[in-house]
Amino acid sequence: MINKSIEVNADKCIYCGRCLADCLSDCLEFNADKIPQYRSGGRQRCFACQHCMAVCPAGALSFGGIDPETLPKAAFADGEQMLLSIKSRRSVRSYKQTDVPSETLDKIKEMLSYPPTACNYDSLHFSIIGTKAKMDEIRRTTYKCLDAIDAASPLYKFKCILETSLPGRQDPIYAGAPTMIACAFSKFNTAPGCESVDPIIALSYFELYAQSLGLGTLWDGFATIAARSFPEVYALLEIPEQYSLSFVLPFGLPAVSYARTPHRNRHSIKIVR
Ligand SMILES: Cc1cc2nc3c(=O)[nH]c(=O)nc-3n(C[C@H](O)[C@H](O)[C@H](O)COP(=O)(O)O)c2cc1C
Repeated sequence: MINKSIEVNADKCIYCGRCLADCLSDCLEFNADKIPQYRSGGRQRCFACQHCMAVCPAGALSFGGIDPETLPKAAFADGEQMLLSIKSRRSVRSYKQTDVPSETLDKIKEMLSYPPTACNYDSLHFSIIGTKAKMDEIRRTTYKCLDAIDAASPLYKFKCILETSLPGRQDPIYAGAPTMIACAFSKFNTAPGCESVDPIIALSYFELYAQSLGLGTLWDGFATIAARSFPEVYALLEIPEQYSLSFVLPFGLPAVSYARTPHRNRHSIKIVR
């Protein structure tokens, strides 16, 4: 958790008040010299969202002791490229049997701090199963648990659906992926009502970013059910006790590429004017 402190470089401050105006919970005020500071109770209310630092055009306000000039200038990917990325994203079910390079995993780790969470808390845990060897252990354990399911088990329906919906696939649960990400939410530090939302937002950002790095990904309901149902599998994900699993996505270097995007025109969408 970033420490909640603001420091203002009085030589740079242009007294514009943008930092005060953009603060969600009115934490800041001008002091007698018109320099922004936490007002009484402001530090306690502060979400540590850093809008005050980010909105300052002069780079006068540092948050948590970080020099604002060391942070990248805000910028967005070109809209057309972004739309094409979204249209190009696919569920990948064919993977090269090699580990994802550790520099790529490091880029993913960097990205995972940025998706929004409801109260800007450190509310999520990500377990990245980073090697094919570890993934193979999870695979073996899963199919061993699955084999042990008989008609009397409450999981028998899951076994039947798996067999009937994905017949003949060698690894129907993980699609042969060499790597996987599991996202879990904090049982104690998540905004009420947002437990199921924060992880899915983070994983959606992950998916698009991973595919932009040349990786394939798969939203995987079957793997999520397996992890939730088989304690032996859950243990291998090494999710700390205070977190609860939300969803898992196998990923890796794809062994398939798609020459074109699909055609889609679906959902009910109404622009209300
Ligand atoms: C919540 C969710 C769960 C999914 N679970 C599985 C799964 O267990 N196995 C699988 O092969 N695909 C799974 N998918 C992928 C969908 O089948 C896929 O998104 C759909 O067929 C469209 O293909 P596309 O993602 O390539 O556009 C899942 C997708 C979502 C969003």
